[in-house]
Amino acid sequence: MTTTPCNRAVTARPDPEPCREQDLGLFEVTQRDGAARIGRLHTRHGALTTPMLLPVVNPNLRTIEPREMWERYGVDALITNSYIIWKHDDLREQSLADGIHSLLDFPGIVVTDSGTFQSYIYGDVEVGTEEIVAFQRDIGVDIGTMLDVFGRPDMSREELEQAVEETAVRAAPSLAEAGEATLLNGPVQGGLHHDLRAQASGLMGGAEGVHRGFSVHPIGGIVPLMEQQRYRELFAILLASRSSLPPDRPVHLFGCGHPILFPMAIALGADLFDSAAYALFARDDRLLTPNGTVKLGNLEEWPFSSNTLYGTTPEQVRSMDDEKRSTILAHHNLEVTQTELARCREAIRSGTIWQLAEQRSHSSPQLREAFVWLQDQMDNPDDGPIGESVLRLIASCDPLRDGGEPLGEDIEFRPHILHLQALLATRWKYPGSWWDSSTEPPMRVVLIEGVSPPWRSSALHTAIQHLIEEPRSIILVSTPIGPIPFTLEDVSPWCHLTGPNDMWLGIYDDDEIGESLGDLGLGDLPVTRATPSPPPETLPDQTGAVRKWLDRCSIVDKLALLCAVNPLEACKLTEGMSARRSRTDRMVNVHSDGAHILSPRLTDGGISLTLEGARRLNELHRAAPPEFGVDGTDEVFAGVPRVCIIDDAIPFVGKGRNVIQGYVSGADPHLTLGQPCLVVDARGQLVAHGTPLATPLEMAFLHKGIAVKVRDGAMKDAK
Ligand code: GUN
Repeated sequence: MTTTPCNRAVTARPDPEPCREQDLGLFEVTQRDGAARIGRLHTRHGALTTPMLLPVVNPNLRTIEPREMWERYGVDALITNSYIIWKHDDLREQSLADGIHSLLDFPGIVVTDSGTFQSYIYGDVEVGTEEIVAFQRDIGVDIGTMLDVFGRPDMSREELEQAVEETAVRAAPSLAEAGEATLLNGPVQGGLHHDLRAQASGLMGGAEGVHRGFSVHPIGGIVPLMEQQRYRELFAILLASRSSLPPDRPVHLFGCGHPILFPMAIALGADLFDSAAYALFARDDRLLTPNGTVKLGNLEEWPFSSNTLYGTTPEQVRSMDDEKRSTILAHHNLEVTQTELARCREAIRSGTIWQLAEQRSHSSPQLREAFVWLQDQMDNPDDGPIGESVLRLIASCDPLRDGGEPLGEDIEFRPHILHLQALLATRWKYPGSWWDSSTEPPMRVVLIEGVSPPWRSSALHTAIQHLIEEPRSIILVSTPIGPIPFTLEDVSPWCHLTGPNDMWLGIYDDDEIGESLGDLGLGDLPVTRATPSPPPETLPDQTGAVRKWLDRCSIVDKLALLCAVNPLEACKLTEGMSARRSRTDRMVNVHSDGAHILSPRLTDGGISLTLEGARRLNELHRAAPPEFGVDGTDEVFAGVPRVCIIDDAIPFVGKGRNVIQGYVSGADPHLTLGQPCLVVDARGQLVAHGTPLATPLEMAFLHKGIAVKVRDGAMKDAK
């Protein structure tokens, strides 16, 4: 037990366990929400959980003791500057003799920078490229940094090209010098030029060493942008850089540590931050909060509380001597920083990181400007590296959510909503045959308006009544984010939007409706607008037949929307289907040809396949199983996406074990996170089925963690 400068007792946190030898430098993703991910980078001093801030520790001036950071604040990793240690005779000798962990008295992961930032501030450094990496290796650093060339935003294109090129030239000798045990940061430079950032990412990401390539990619040269609050340019650089970085490496925003930036940066895929802001701001009597910075000034009460400040008043802190005051404020600042990161990680777990970024965007005009710009990019991706990153981000979101989706002015730009709407626009097709067995094209659209979910109770009879009146009617219901087919009425987030009660009453004008119907390919049909009436006392005779047809359409539509199954094939699969219903009148088990083939998911309106369903759906595939490096089909209805695994994994996965990263040999490009997928062998035989936890690109790169959460193995009975 130790006491802190704030006089609070701290219980010892045990030292970390080194990773397994074969895991050194591997990054695994354990949870995700779009591009935001919770990961673990494996090192000799434990696993670094991301997203995380590496507090900057100045070895000459420790405002908070590293040991206290480890024990009190759960800091897994810190960053210090190897160049400062190298230049300072005492520090150099001590670190070479006892190691960096002993010098700092820190049992966790030590990351070091290389002197590049000093060269930006002072114009030059006296150390050589290999020399500084060798020094970091010799003092036992866990993750060192090569000596990159700082690319300032105001440099000419030629200068920035040179910075990128020279940094890339230094990559191979740096990796060679680092040896087997030291992991290395490979910084990405390129100033404000998106193409240069993408080029730099490709060069640094592709650099090979004898033992491994770079383990982390910091985005460099961005400190001047953050100092000037040029956040739009900052996020553009992050997106451009990520377009070409291997997805199995954490991305670090060099010098970024203000909590106001965390949610947005994390939502765009940043994994690591570092900053001395907690100490520097404290020295200047400034408090960090998730919404900005507050001057101690004349505060009468704390506008944002922390454990550190609890029980003290601003007046008491003001009256402390300089050292005590800056120490207590630094503790507060570090605590707030850590808490905001915990909030971000929790938001990733609950699938709400984008909403958190949306909320935080209102903290400053510059941040809001950046967020609005981001929404624009999402809505209209360009064909450069930013567009590529943005499309990848949208595609990496599970389109369905269980739980409420709060309405807000930005809702339509949330990436999972954009994903869902894009699937609806491309994969939903109106029925090929109607409840009365006619097969002619539709006669009209019926739009049911002004009614809240569950639509199966509030709008069913209106739907049936209009279908009896004209069997060739396409029934849609109106939602605050656009009309949806009645057959998808229980799909969340559409049916789980939360907001004021009158949000369901919105009646849209003809132009708005025309535009939405155009997106669904229904722009040429006449529209009947209907508001629901109570069910009739006696149901018409045709009610049962219409309901049965609607049930079948619902399954066909979900198979098309979420699994890319051709609606014609889905129709054949569901011919003569029957379904048991829950007490809340929802289909639970769907049987066809005497077998249970799937169950609609009650939580989010998706579908869960059974093994028999997976078998039947796999038989529909005619194309060869996917293989990394071989172009897949770009057909809209390419069938339930498949993940192909190598032979070694078949006995395990076939018995129901999860598919582990590194055992995947191919994945269909239309694989959708959180939605059903088939696991097959190289001949296309079904091995298992489940839900993918990673994108096809990630499966091609990652070597640790789960690729597919298997629901059922197809070889359970095999000996
Ligand atoms: N610290 C802040 N920015 C940078 C950068 O661009 N490179 C390195 N090595 N360190 C930094």
